[in-house]
Amino acid sequence: MRKKVTKAIFPVAGLGTRFLPATKSVPKEIMTLVDRPLVQYAIDEARAAGIKEFIFVTSRGKSALEDYFDHSPILENELRRKGKKDLLDVLKSTNMDSGAIAYIRQHKALGLGHAVWCARRLIGNEPFAVILPDDVIAAETPCLQQMVEAYAETGGNMVAAMEVPPERASAYGVLDVKEDMGSIVSVNGMVEKPKKEEAPSNLAVIGRYILAPSVLNNLNKMKTGAGGEIQLTDAIAADIGSESGVYGYRFRGQRFDCGSKSGFLQATVAFALARDDLRDDLSAYLRDIVQMDKAAE
Ligand code: UTP
Repeated sequence: MRKKVTKAIFPVAGLGTRFLPATKSVPKEIMTLVDRPLVQYAIDEARAAGIKEFIFVTSRGKSALEDYFDHSPILENELRRKGKKDLLDVLKSTNMDSGAIAYIRQHKALGLGHAVWCARRLIGNEPFAVILPDDVIAAETPCLQQMVEAYAETGGNMVAAMEVPPERASAYGVLDVKEDMGSIVSVNGMVEKPKKEEAPSNLAVIGRYILAPSVLNNLNKMKTGAGGEIQLTDAIAADIGSESGVYGYRFRGQRFDCGSKSGFLQATVAFALARDDLRDDLSAYLRDIVQMDKAAE
């Protein structure tokens, strides 16, 4: 029997420079899509996939993240006293079990691979998930849950994969596909941020992974890769050809790159339009401004 995936690492120690000056004092992961911080979407997705232990790799200046997951008895009592049951339920749904969250510091932003490696002692010798909260995925079945189900068939290492146009490949890790089995592909190689003409396929890796503990051993030996950072892609690629192997998973859903301003804005609109309490107002407003734009042309 394959070991169940019950631990997830959330690497949130990056500097978030694309959102400066906001990220001078607000961690990127606390920024809100409508009324929920990015990190809440990530936690909800992990819970739906059966994750029980949530490991955050943080850094200096990210204490707002730790505060966010604290229970808030004063607020809860006040809402109870005022009979605001709906808000109380919203608040309670963010509560985490005692001891379910751990925080590890990455002392220097040496790259995603290094951030994951910082959590090695909390993972031990079992498979684990990695979720990047700035990749937000809208999906009927949450993406990590889809992956856990696919992983039950393959084992090994699994990365979420998405088709991208060739000119965008250089922004991602790209899969060299060995065998395409539909939603699952087996992988011959992975290239981090290839030049357009060197991309081995149009399948890009995005921020969801289920990894074998061997990847942590690979990270032990890692040197800096593309961009002078310790790359998670390189450590996963080192498992290709080993017993574990590497698979890509074409998830069903829409991914928003909330690490970029344009992706964040698109996600804000998409998530607001999906809400019954906001849809009518917002779509009327969007229609108006599009019409005004057309009239101005
Ligand atoms: P990004 O490449 O988006 O970098 O990291 P960043 O620092 O968050 O943002 P920019 O590019 O400066 O705007 C992808 C993910 O990896 C984490 C980030 O927190 C983010 O979730 N990360 C990256 C770390 O935890 N540590 C690192 O050293 C680098």
